[in-house]
Amino acid sequence: MNTSSHEDVNSTQSDTAGKVISCKAAVLRGPGQPLVMEEIQVDPPQKMEVRIKILYTSICHTDLSAWNGENEAQRAFPRILGHEAAGIVESVGEGVVDMRKGDHVVPIFNGECGHCAYCKSDKTNLCEKFRVNPFKSVMVNDGGTRFSTKDGEPIFHFLNCSTFSEYTVLDSACVVNIDPNAPLNKMSLLSCCVSSGLGAAWNIANVQAGSSVAIFGLGAVGLAAAEGARARGASKIIGVDINSEKFIKGRAVGITDFLNPKDLQNPVHEKIRELTGGGVDYSFECAGNADVLREAFLGTHDGWGLTVLLGIHPSPRMLPLHPMELFDGRKIVGTIFGDCKGKTQLPHFAKQCMRGVVNLDEFITHELPFEKINEAFQLLIDGKSLRCLLHL
Ligand SMILES: NC(=O)c1ccc[n+]([C@@H]2O[C@H](COP(=O)([O-])OP(=O)(O)OC[C@H]3O[C@@H](n4cnc5c(N)ncnc54)[C@H](O)[C@@H]3O)[C@@H](O)[C@H]2O)c1
Ligand SMILES: [Zn+2]
Ligand SMILES: [Zn+2]
Repeated sequence: MNTSSHEDVNSTQSDTAGKVISCKAAVLRGPGQPLVMEEIQVDPPQKMEVRIKILYTSICHTDLSAWNGENEAQRAFPRILGHEAAGIVESVGEGVVDMRKGDHVVPIFNGECGHCAYCKSDKTNLCEKFRVNPFKSVMVNDGGTRFSTKDGEPIFHFLNCSTFSEYTVLDSACVVNIDPNAPLNKMSLLSCCVSSGLGAAWNIANVQAGSSVAIFGLGAVGLAAAEGARARGASKIIGVDINSEKFIKGRAVGITDFLNPKDLQNPVHEKIRELTGGGVDYSFECAGNADVLREAFLGTHDGWGLTVLLGIHPSPRMLPLHPMELFDGRKIVGTIFGDCKGKTQLPHFAKQCMRGVVNLDEFITHELPFEKINEAFQLLIDGKSLRCLLHL
């Protein structure tokens, strides 16, 4: 499907505004089960909500963890997963003034209301009401769902987004207006992986020209952090992955050296220290594994090394560090969504992608029709894809 729905943009109301929409969605009925394509009902947006028509969506590792039900407390079924997407506004609820029908938008799982103490602070990107919350499965307004089966059974929301559906309803704080000239297919990457990786390199690490970097886990999130480091002029970018096939794409985004821990006799941090005269300036953990986090920490230079944690760790294990190790001057910090304030920062990221400061060409490795979503899950599970773009 293309994105040229501009013919009807000038009328302020769509035919479907205020009505329930029947459409297709990929519904998860239990942990690890194949998603089922179902005809569902999507209610109109309520106050400060937006209903969007999803045109593209892709699968992030965080969807995979939720699909597996790795963290039992997060389980809620039936559910519509998905949080990386791009689409067009179908209608807006009462009080929404920054968007209208026909606008090109991307959803964000970590919202920005713009008014709370957190949104007003420049020290955090967590919004009081709309921050990422993996335990939340209903809308803030009324604690209800906007999705239901044909028989009226409620279907739960996921991560403020639920993009594996032709139509979805989000809080307006979780929807960002994007330049209509930007290619919407690639803009879907800004919804999660690219913004998280770029933001980690720019907002958190503030990578400097000539510095050295190590990226642990070369999925789309890790490669986005590498791309952010490359754009800042890092001179050495070491990629670490247990799947050597990831090195092909890694090279294309400017990674200069590769290490597969399986090929090494000693812990990978020792090799990194050897390659860099004592350790890298910045390391990024993008694998979601506590042992990897420890290697990332020890692979940085003492005195000033900074480790940025992006990986989501579903296991109950605690941080694998002794407190005294922090006296060597290595720091560690976690980030959600690369510390981006989505509504404020994403339009700017979109412009940088359009100007070629950031290159998104390597991230979409596969494209499939929406109906083949289970195949797309398998590609990610098998480590064959970075992002498989599903066309709705
Ligand atoms: N903090 C955030 O805001 C945020 C946003 C998006 C994703 N995430 C998380 O970031 C992580 C990466 O997401 P993704 O979509 O790029 O995942 P992905 O599955 O595409 O990539 C993960 C990569 O890690 C590699 N890996 C696995 N175990 C490893 C090990 N022991 N050593 C080295 N490499 C290893 C895999 O081979 C794979 O290439 C996930 O944990 C995801 O949940 C966090
Ligand atoms: Zn994600
Ligand atoms: Zn807020």
